[in-house]
Amino acid sequence: MKWISPALLLTPRLTLASALGGNQSALNPHGPLASRISELWWYMFAVLTAGYVVTLVILFWALRQGRRGKRPDLIKSRNVVLIWGLAIPGVVFTSVLFYSVLVGQTMSVDPYKNALTIHITGKQWWWQVRYLHGSDVIADTANEIHVPVGVPVKLKLSSTDVIHSFWAPNLSGKMDLIPGRTNETWIRADKEGVWRGACAEFCGVQHAHMAFEVIAEKSDKYYQWLDWQRHPAITPTTDQQRHGLMTFVTGPCGMCHAVRGTTAHGSAGPDLTHLAGRRTIAAGTLPNTRGHLGGWIVNAQGPKPGNYMPRLNMEPEQLDSLLSYLEILK
Ligand code: CUA
Repeated sequence: MKWISPALLLTPRLTLASALGGNQSALNPHGPLASRISELWWYMFAVLTAGYVVTLVILFWALRQGRRGKRPDLIKSRNVVLIWGLAIPGVVFTSVLFYSVLVGQTMSVDPYKNALTIHITGKQWWWQVRYLHGSDVIADTANEIHVPVGVPVKLKLSSTDVIHSFWAPNLSGKMDLIPGRTNETWIRADKEGVWRGACAEFCGVQHAHMAFEVIAEKSDKYYQWLDWQRHPAITPTTDQQRHGLMTFVTGPCGMCHAVRGTTAHGSAGPDLTHLAGRRTIAAGTLPNTRGHLGGWIVNAQGPKPGNYMPRLNMEPEQLDSLLSYLEILK
């Protein structure tokens, strides 16, 4: 038999304290929907803990009574079975049922008709995030959802391959992304911050590497960001960057990725027009640094086996110039 080290049980990730303050925790709500869900969680926690404690107390009391020969028939008593076995659990579970149905209804109701809308498409294994103005795409990014603080945002969710599920625990409940259908949910971040979310529906081997971040910022910063996203990519200024751009558009990169303002119009992978402005690559798998990006380009199958990005064989100088180009795509 293997013993679990007590230290493992105290791992910070597992403690309630970290769940209460975490940036991927339903117990640290920063939006109205998440608040309802966490209230429900605490209600269930309190009621079920109380039920558990009361049951144990009665069990030990009954056992003592029986052992002392005072009430040998106690456990068999009809009233005890009816009241403690059926009536009380019945009331407790019914209250939990009604409460959770009520919370569920709050989530599906859309209180904001003309709210800012963001279109999110689930893909194996990343999130395409688009901001539209009418039918024009004004921002096309990946795995990063910028929202203004305090403003309700409607999310239109769909998928192009399998069923995924959008879950940013600090802000909202889960909502499925289903091929051929558009589901809606809404979020409102009540505080500035970066809230991590994940795919909550098993969608293939790299399901666990399908994360995203909701970046809630003050209104002016948000509109600054959005305005910048409309711009096409920055033009290279050095020879090395120009060589990198050539590698990008003439090599395999441009077949799958788009960089607006160049001849690369691929649509299989994320739009890279403003890649350098993102915090992570590969859907939250790696930080967006030159080293990780280089490693990802030549061996994307290493950190995330099974994804659609092929291994690319490149000469070191070629990779170096490609990275110098990608780094300017702020
Ligand atoms: Cu997408 Cu799990």
